[in-house]
Amino acid sequence: MIHVSNLTKEYGNRRAVNEISFKVEKGEIVGFLGPNGAGKTTTMRILTGYLPPSSGKVEIGGYDIMEHSIQARRLIGYMPETVPLHQDMTVYEYLKFMADLRKIKNAKQRVNEVLAQLHLEERASGYISKLSKGLKQRVGLAQAILHQPEVLILDEPTIGLDPAQIIEVRNLIRQIGKQHTVLLSTHILPEAQQVCNRVLIINKGNIIAEDTTEHLQARLAGSQRVILRVRGEISPLLPLIEHTPGVLRISRQNDDTLEFETPHAEDARPQVARAAIEAGFELLELHAVSLSLEEIFLQLTHEDAPVPMTTSEPAEQ
Ligand SMILES: Nc1ncnc2c1ncn2[C@@H]1O[C@H](COP(=O)(O)OP(=O)(O)OP(=O)(O)O)[C@@H](O)[C@H]1O
Ligand SMILES: [Mg+2]
Repeated sequence: MIHVSNLTKEYGNRRAVNEISFKVEKGEIVGFLGPNGAGKTTTMRILTGYLPPSSGKVEIGGYDIMEHSIQARRLIGYMPETVPLHQDMTVYEYLKFMADLRKIKNAKQRVNEVLAQLHLEERASGYISKLSKGLKQRVGLAQAILHQPEVLILDEPTIGLDPAQIIEVRNLIRQIGKQHTVLLSTHILPEAQQVCNRVLIINKGNIIAEDTTEHLQARLAGSQRVILRVRGEISPLLPLIEHTPGVLRISRQNDDTLEFETPHAEDARPQVARAAIEAGFELLELHAVSLSLEEIFLQLTHEDAPVPMTTSEPAEQ
C-alpha cells in the first residue's frame, strides 16, 4: 500500500533522509519512531506529495506520488504536524468545506459521522480559532479521515492531547488500522508499543531498525536483564556470581536482590542458580526482564551506537 524505495531528501547540502526503503501493507499500523530532527516529518511530507524527494520513489496504492499525484493523493488522509485550519470557520464549516473540496457524496452526513466519531458534536458550531490545542488536533484528525482514505499518514497524532483523548485517539487509530494502512510518527515509545504492529526506528535520516515491537524488545538488545533474589543478605553472593561465565554487568539492587545481564546466546541463569544454591543460599526468584523499548531506543540512537541493526529482512529494493 505504501511502498518507499531509496528515498533521499536533501535540504541544500544537508541530508535529512538517507536512502530509506520500507513498505506498509493494508491492515497494518506502522509506527515511525525517532528523536527530534530524525526525518519523520520530512518523509511524511514526501509520502503525501507536499514535498518532492531529492531521489527515490514513493508509491501509494500502486500510484507514483510524483507521476500520478492526483490519484495517489486521493487515497491518502494526512494529518500534518501542524494542521493548517481555517481559523475563521466553525468546526462544522471547516469539515464541510474540506468534504466539498474532496467531492465527497452526502457530505453533510459524512461530516456528522466524523464529528460523532471524534466526539466533536458539541463543538461543531464553535469557531476553530477558539478551540484548545487538543481540540484543534482532533479536528485535524477528523479532516484526515473524512474521505475514508485507504492510507492514513499521521504526524504525531496524539501530541497535545489530554490523557483521556490520547486513549480515544489511539483506539480510533487501532480501529481504522484494521481496514486501512496507517503510518504514524511518534516519539512516545509506549504509544508505538500499544498502537502499532510494527515500528521503523529512524535516526539522522536512516532507518536503523525495523521489526515488531515484541521482536525489537526481545532481540535487539542482544542481552537480557535477569533479577536474582535470595532469602537473606545477598552481598556475599556477588563476587561468586560475578565470575560465573556469561554474566555481564552485575549490580546489587537491595538487601536480597541483584541484577545482571546475560547474552541471549549464553544464558547464564542455570549456572547462576547452581552457584547460589551451592553457596548455601535459598533461591526465591530468578527471572529475566526484557529491556524496555526506551532502553533499546536509547541504545540504538546513541551517538556511539555500533553498526545499524536490523532484525528483519530489509525491504526489497
Ligand atoms: N524546510 C527545511 N529546510 C531545511 N532543513 C529542514 C527543513 N525541514 C526540516 N529540516 C531539517 O531536516 C531534518 C529532519 O527534520 P524533520 O522535521 O523531518 O524531523 P522530525 O523527525 O520530524 O523531528 P521532530 O520529532 O522534531 O518533529 C532536521 O535536521 C531539520 O532541521
Ligand atoms: Mg516532525
